Amino acid sequence: MISARTVVAGVVGQPIAHSLSPILHNAWLAAAGIDGVYVAFAPRAESFAAFVEGQRGGGAIRGVNVTVPFKEQALAAADEASARARLAGAANLLVFETDGRIRADNTDGVGLLGAFEAQVEGFDPAAGPVVVLGAGGAARGAAAALLLAGTPQVRVLNRTVSKAQALASDLGPKVVAGALADAAEAFAGAIAVINATAAGMSPGQGLDVPLGATPESAVVMDMFYKPLVTPFLAQAQALGRRTVDGLEMLVRQAEPSFEALFGAPPPAGVDVRALALKVLNG
Ligand code: ATR
Repeated sequence: MISARTVVAGVVGQPIAHSLSPILHNAWLAAAGIDGVYVAFAPRAESFAAFVEGQRGGGAIRGVNVTVPFKEQALAAADEASARARLAGAANLLVFETDGRIRADNTDGVGLLGAFEAQVEGFDPAAGPVVVLGAGGAARGAAAALLLAGTPQVRVLNRTVSKAQALASDLGPKVVAGALADAAEAFAGAIAVINATAAGMSPGQGLDVPLGATPESAVVMDMFYKPLVTPFLAQAQALGRRTVDGLEMLVRQAEPSFEALFGAPPPAGVDVRALALKVLNG
């Protein structure tokens, strides 16, 4: 039951109506018996900063996850930020402390690595180079998470090479930039390939990269999860490569987010992935 004591948290993005985050968090809240609710907010782009500023003190909203297109703005709006959020250049979590401070964190990296760990037994991100496709916010977050996990080299390939170069010069010498057209060369010796581009979101716009040039042991991951098995992952599976899906990353980033928002880890025994899949499949 919603009461005067109900803790309110949520996710902020634009658009937000198809977010799966409320499904995950509310299932955990119900199972844990926490008097809380997790809803979705879609402020107008020009209102995001005012929305965040209005939450100082946490008297209205305890905290929010943040998604496209507000993650960079969320980092800028905070008074303090974790090292991993600063390296990612983005925040997916804002906590409105009772002392008035706004604290930013980024759990996307934990989510990315947690998804690999969950779906590929024994995967070690420090065991060799990883290729990241794309050079937007999602790609930067992935590259930052890999660096923190000890990946010796991150090869960032993008359609617009200058954006990959900018990302590489920002993150340091372990990140090297290239064009999507150079994929075959970059795939050689890679332990994983991660799609962090928006390609494939619109029909007929799939990524055309030679996944067959990866070692047979390479793992292929897609951060996009609608559908769960994207054309990119289907291509990898047809080649016999092990794959990791973006839905697992969503679930894994939600776990530490839940703890930061509601003060307790998610309860065990709730199959939130199955719930999310049900919604995904309509
Ligand atoms: P996000 O914050 O989700 O990463 P973004 O910053 O808009 O989103 O970045 C989108 C990424 O997808 C970019 O790397 C973009 O390539 P460009 O920098 O060349 O635009 C990439 N992208 C989008 N559509 C693509 C397509 N059809 N083929 C290849 N890359 C594509």
